[in-house]
Amino acid sequence: MSTPSLLILPGDGIGPEVMAEVVKIIDWYGDKRGLKFDVSHDLVGGAAYDKHGTPLHDDTMARAQKADAVLLGAVGGPKYDVLDFSVKPERGLLRLRKEMDLYANLRPAQCFDALADFSSLKKDVVAGLDIMIVRELTSGIYFGEPRGIFKEGNERVGVNTQRYTESEIARVARSAFELARRRGNKVCSMEKANVMESGILWRDVVTEIHQAEYADVELSHMYADAGAMQLCRWPKQFDVIVTDNLFGDLLSDAAAMLTGSLGMLPSASLGAPMENGRPKALYEPVHGSAPDIAGQGKANPIACVLSFAMALRYSFDQGDEATRLENAIEKVLADGARTADLLGEDGVTPLSTSQMGDAIVAALEATI
Ligand code: NAD
Ligand code: IPM
Ligand code: MN
Repeated sequence: MSTPSLLILPGDGIGPEVMAEVVKIIDWYGDKRGLKFDVSHDLVGGAAYDKHGTPLHDDTMARAQKADAVLLGAVGGPKYDVLDFSVKPERGLLRLRKEMDLYANLRPAQCFDALADFSSLKKDVVAGLDIMIVRELTSGIYFGEPRGIFKEGNERVGVNTQRYTESEIARVARSAFELARRRGNKVCSMEKANVMESGILWRDVVTEIHQAEYADVELSHMYADAGAMQLCRWPKQFDVIVTDNLFGDLLSDAAAMLTGSLGMLPSASLGAPMENGRPKALYEPVHGSAPDIAGQGKANPIACVLSFAMALRYSFDQGDEATRLENAIEKVLADGARTADLLGEDGVTPLSTSQMGDAIVAALEATI
């Protein structure tokens, strides 16, 4: 088999800072585990806009389509707030997701024991937590037409459209049921069928797919607002949550705080299998470019490193090596290593981004 290709798009703000730590880990796997990747780098977001006047160059899009996996840092930042909507950094990321047809966005929220005290929720609420949010990523209100800011009489009106087809719902539902079978065998589907027709269709299609193909999996439904409340009240009731693009965006940020920090949450965005059997895939932390701490060496690289662990598992069939990396992170945290986002005001000196990366490499080294 030829060396698998990995396209790295560090992006903006803390994106390049956290990605530098992932590169250390990729190098370690190449040197010490014989896991070689054909790694190449390119620009996305504001960084691409600065060079090309577009947040995603067509050449980069074409390279992403061909890569076995894409690893992205983060996009956006205040410098780009003034740009026209069509060339904002976030448009680059949305184009990647849409054109690669990455419809299933897996956002696991796991609470590492060492951080259970740090969550803003009580320890017994979060200790041992392991849930998976499956967010539909290529449709819904993010992409529905009509959209725009229009003139209506004397005033402007902002329009976005929530739109889902049966097949869009069915394919992400299948992803959620498949994942559940390999985990706790439970799926909770969240929508607002009480107020939205798209929610009624969502609930119907998920139920039909369940009855026809996944009756062995336990299925429940919840209105997404109640789901947000239940995520904070007793998150351990959930195994897999499947929901639409916008609700999934909100619910996954909320789930981040169950784990202690947004700096801990990875994600995998998966599409249909390519000719080589691998799914089209993009891996990225759930967090953004964190302009408030960018350039200061304060960012937590763990979300991005865990995103690479997801790449090992979902794109490269290296589940054992993914577990090795996750265990190394768990060990580092258990030993007390903390970036600033994982510390209270108690005067402990935090590790820098790069020191955290080094600590993870050292913990990996100790496993062989
Ligand atoms: P953000 O996730 O960038 O930051 C929210 C808060 O979390 C900030 O206080 C930040 O310092 C902190 N934080 C985030 N990641 C961290 C990390 N790894 N380590 C330590 N602290 C971390 O969200 P925002 O401030 O709402 O958005 C900033 C920019 O990022 C915007 O332009 C937004 O559109 C963009 N954004 C991009 C992505 C992405 O690229 N996938 C995701 C979310 C937001
Ligand atoms: C995320 C982000 C993105 C989204 C933005 C940056 C386009 O918030 O990945 O969660 O809204 O999907
Ligand atoms: Mn988000």
